[in-house]
Amino acid sequence: MGSGAQVGVIVGSYNSRVGFPAAMEILRAGGSALDAAVAAVKVIEDNLEDHSVGTGGIPNILGQVELDASIMDGTTLAAGAVGAVKNYPHPIEIARKVMEVTPHVMLVGEGAELFARVHGFQTANLLTEEAEQEWRRHILGEDGGPVEGETYEDQFSLYMSVVKDWTKLLHKEIFGTTNVIVRDTQGNIASAVSTSGWGFKWPGRLGDSPIIGAGNYADSRFGAAACTGRGEMAIRAASAHSVVTYLRQGMTLEDALRTAMLDLRALVDPYAERDNVMNIVAMDRHGNVAAASTSLAARYVFQTTEMDDYEERPRIHVPLREE
Ligand code: GLY
Repeated sequence: MGSGAQVGVIVGSYNSRVGFPAAMEILRAGGSALDAAVAAVKVIEDNLEDHSVGTGGIPNILGQVELDASIMDGTTLAAGAVGAVKNYPHPIEIARKVMEVTPHVMLVGEGAELFARVHGFQTANLLTEEAEQEWRRHILGEDGGPVEGETYEDQFSLYMSVVKDWTKLLHKEIFGTTNVIVRDTQGNIASAVSTSGWGFKWPGRLGDSPIIGAGNYADSRFGAAACTGRGEMAIRAASAHSVVTYLRQGMTLEDALRTAMLDLRALVDPYAERDNVMNIVAMDRHGNVAAASTSLAARYVFQTTEMDDYEERPRIHVPLREE
């Protein structure tokens, strides 16, 4: 898809489509890519049916919803991120604030929550009844389980037994996360990522979503990329940054995506035996969009300011193992 300089474009993971109207309204009014990306992600964070992002996210092994988010301004290369944040429904806004008012890029845990409180962000209960039931069913089990009030050793051995089997246990939306990349009518690109991370994760576990270069990277001179899936892989391969580097080296968007996905094949990873283990969405500097996945069935969505509605497209299929 090509687009002229005056056309706004948004591309994202399939679950990001609920946020497109909010982003489009901003883009059509001449607003910035950053504003549009944040507006889209806030809607997704509020979507209770999405169990991988924001309120309604599947909790950690202790039953607490911990959220991660990051944002990058591709024109200034400024970035902000928060990790393992509890009780704040819009981590993407906190990430943006980190970018705008601190000399830092990433705040995590209690420090991030203190920052959010000082800056007037509202708290909320993020654990929905449905997510709590999932946690009770999988983690506590019939008899209340060994998690509550037991020793660290018990919790850790339970955790290891859960994660070994996690592909079977986890909710179908567990790898959701959300990716939103926006190019505004001025040609500025911004990328935003938000997630509740692995369902039933170890408290404090961070994936790729809050890590600039791993799950999120934008550079308006070349393009942007963002990831969903097994964050540990995207961290180890610096996947989002790799896509942008490959664009910088002159590859087409499709080749840049394919090469970054093929990079994953070098990772030895006993937890990666799952069809839809890694996904990347990307945009080049002109606003062309594409996405790749280890799954044949994966889709992504995009819309330009000239389109009435979003369009859904298949991703380039790059299986993790050679077929
Ligand atoms: N990609 C999201 C995560 O691993 O937490």
